[in-house]
Amino acid sequence: MHQIVKDIHWTGYIDWDLRNFHGYETPVGSTYNAYLILDEAPVLIDTVKHYGAEEMIDRIKEVIDPAKIKYIISNHTEMDHSGSIDAILKYCPNAEVVCSPKGAQELKRHFKKDWKFKIVNTGDELNIGKRTLSFLLTPMVHWPDSMVTYSAHDKILFSNDAFGQHRASDERYADEVGSDIVFEDAAKYYANIVMPYGNQVLKALEAASKLAIEMICPSHGLIWRTKEDLLEILSLYHKWANYESENKCLIAYDTMWNSTRQMATKFKHLIDAQGLPVKMVGLQEVHISNIVTDILTSKFVLFGTPILNNRMLPTMAALLMYLKGLKTRNHYATTFGSYGWSKIGFKEFEQSIADAGFELMGEGRYSQFVPDDSELENLKSVVDKIKEKIG
Ligand code: FEO
Repeated sequence: MHQIVKDIHWTGYIDWDLRNFHGYETPVGSTYNAYLILDEAPVLIDTVKHYGAEEMIDRIKEVIDPAKIKYIISNHTEMDHSGSIDAILKYCPNAEVVCSPKGAQELKRHFKKDWKFKIVNTGDELNIGKRTLSFLLTPMVHWPDSMVTYSAHDKILFSNDAFGQHRASDERYADEVGSDIVFEDAAKYYANIVMPYGNQVLKALEAASKLAIEMICPSHGLIWRTKEDLLEILSLYHKWANYESENKCLIAYDTMWNSTRQMATKFKHLIDAQGLPVKMVGLQEVHISNIVTDILTSKFVLFGTPILNNRMLPTMAALLMYLKGLKTRNHYATTFGSYGWSKIGFKEFEQSIADAGFELMGEGRYSQFVPDDSELENLKSVVDKIKEKIG
């Protein structure tokens, strides 16, 4: 049991062992945050993954008989939040499930149950005693059904996936863990989960800007409660949703016989020599979800692959397919790599990068078998282009 503010309790589940969240590497686990509001009509906001139901219910029992719950607000259908609704409804079968119109459709498709739904739209209010909760639909942040719940009495925004991070922790607040660490977690979360929906995020931020907010309680990770953290996370979301990146370079590459790595390393040295921030990531060593996090903030991405069977390496194809889905924008890219007897595979490589939303800066740099000294030196012209773009 953990009281967030008077009469609002965290009743979530800490998933210490989680290492992969639908393809997203979670090296320090995650949490599914549920919140119990004790008022005349007690309310549970969201639940947890199905395997955390028992623990969530035990936490609720520490403060209230679960049978007294009158409303279960389902801000989002994805099963990390809805997976224990059925389990809690066994204790409070008359409780209403409060959700968006799409939420009701999606919950029915997921659980095939005839729950008592109370459908809400943006601006609708729910009086639960001394509190009146209001709702704001935030479609596509993260699914079509998504919404957030606001308690004006407490000045708390229950934001579901928005502003969340994957981190298992005994602490409940970002400032207890160290806000800088949690901002990094939030960036990774945004890059891998929220990035495709920048326009929708901006609309949600605009609507939320009219609310007095002293605490943001997301459905994953740590709660934002200090003034500085609240300002910073809102500002970061504005920046990310506007696809603003920094004058940083990322070299993302894979290699077969070290030739493409030689080129990547030469790029790294040349960019270093210009005093620009640059990071080099090998696709075999670094998880795709971490690479995407670096791409979020890097204006320049240098993609390198050798050619195998007339194609880019499958690791690169996977990264580019993932990026295509994430619909990133406002990045410049260049391509490089080694080939044996045909460069044909680089056409598909370049097209995939363009399809993933990158603006290619001129022709790629490709070397047959092993790059020679002059080919390596010539990579400098790419770095000159980067400098030109920076201005
Ligand atoms: Fe945390 Fe989209 O669910």
